[in-house]
Amino acid sequence: MLVKGEKQWRVVKFADNRSYLCAMNILDGKIAAEAVKAALKVQVAERAAAGKKIPHLAAILVGNNGASATYVAAKVKACEQTGFISTLIRLEETVTQQKLLETIKGLNQDPDVDGILVQLPLPAQISEQEVIDAIDPLKDVDGFHPVNVGKMVLGVEGFVPATPLGIMLLLAHYNINTSGLHAVVIGRSNIVGRPMSILLSGNAQPGNCTVTLCHSKTKELTTHCQQADLIVAALGKPLFLKADMVKEGAIVIDVGITRIDDATRKNGFRLLGDVEYETVAPKCSWITPVPGGVGPMTIAALMKNTFLACSRK
Ligand code: GUN
Repeated sequence: MLVKGEKQWRVVKFADNRSYLCAMNILDGKIAAEAVKAALKVQVAERAAAGKKIPHLAAILVGNNGASATYVAAKVKACEQTGFISTLIRLEETVTQQKLLETIKGLNQDPDVDGILVQLPLPAQISEQEVIDAIDPLKDVDGFHPVNVGKMVLGVEGFVPATPLGIMLLLAHYNINTSGLHAVVIGRSNIVGRPMSILLSGNAQPGNCTVTLCHSKTKELTTHCQQADLIVAALGKPLFLKADMVKEGAIVIDVGITRIDDATRKNGFRLLGDVEYETVAPKCSWITPVPGGVGPMTIAALMKNTFLACSRK
């Protein structure tokens, strides 16, 4: 069993042939997220003192998906912690596309609302892309609108999706130099994998990686992973990444967060990542835990985007 903060030093050779003295270390998302939110809280207080507008996030939750409800509740709580205003709009599972689009239109037109998010996934009768397209790109704090996706690809200021942005903030918080590393991203979703591959390959720090984007049709996935200095596991398959797939000294980021029924837990479930943590962690220089890794950073990044939306006005 690995304990947080436990260090195991070793010399590790990276793809650029440089050797590093590495220790298995935890990328603690709770600590880094608290730092991001604390800085935002100060900035919000400064805005308030100067008589400027306070950031306002509006979240739309459709239906009764337990995981989605938990995530949205965490986002609303983060707004309270950071001094933001939040509005939660709950719509029935059976809501029509038209009603949802009208709700978004109302938020687009409301000058008090800075950021809008519609929690995904949405019920089958709703076209997710049409919903995303309906959000004002200037209020699209999830960074899912085509305008913001385009800006991210071009490296132009817009909104970057919260999970990949949160991972970049986590790497930055721990001063991890990713320049020249070979990064393997597993999963090509619009929310995580694809934007992650773009950010890691960007000309920035963190960034400047050589990126391989793997997915369900990738041949020799294990071989790709074994060559990676940095792995982002974002495929949504619990305990997928095993120790034999990971090089000594690799940095491993686990985006997975699957609920598994567990009658011994008070809430009736436990959370599993995409990484078999117990066996993979001893081989890593850095690794994110689940929970307490990427999850809190996603929320911190959303807060950052909402602050930006407000301050850009
Ligand atoms: N569902 C899973 N991740 C996200 C996210 O980052 N934003 C929204 N809106 N829905 C999600």
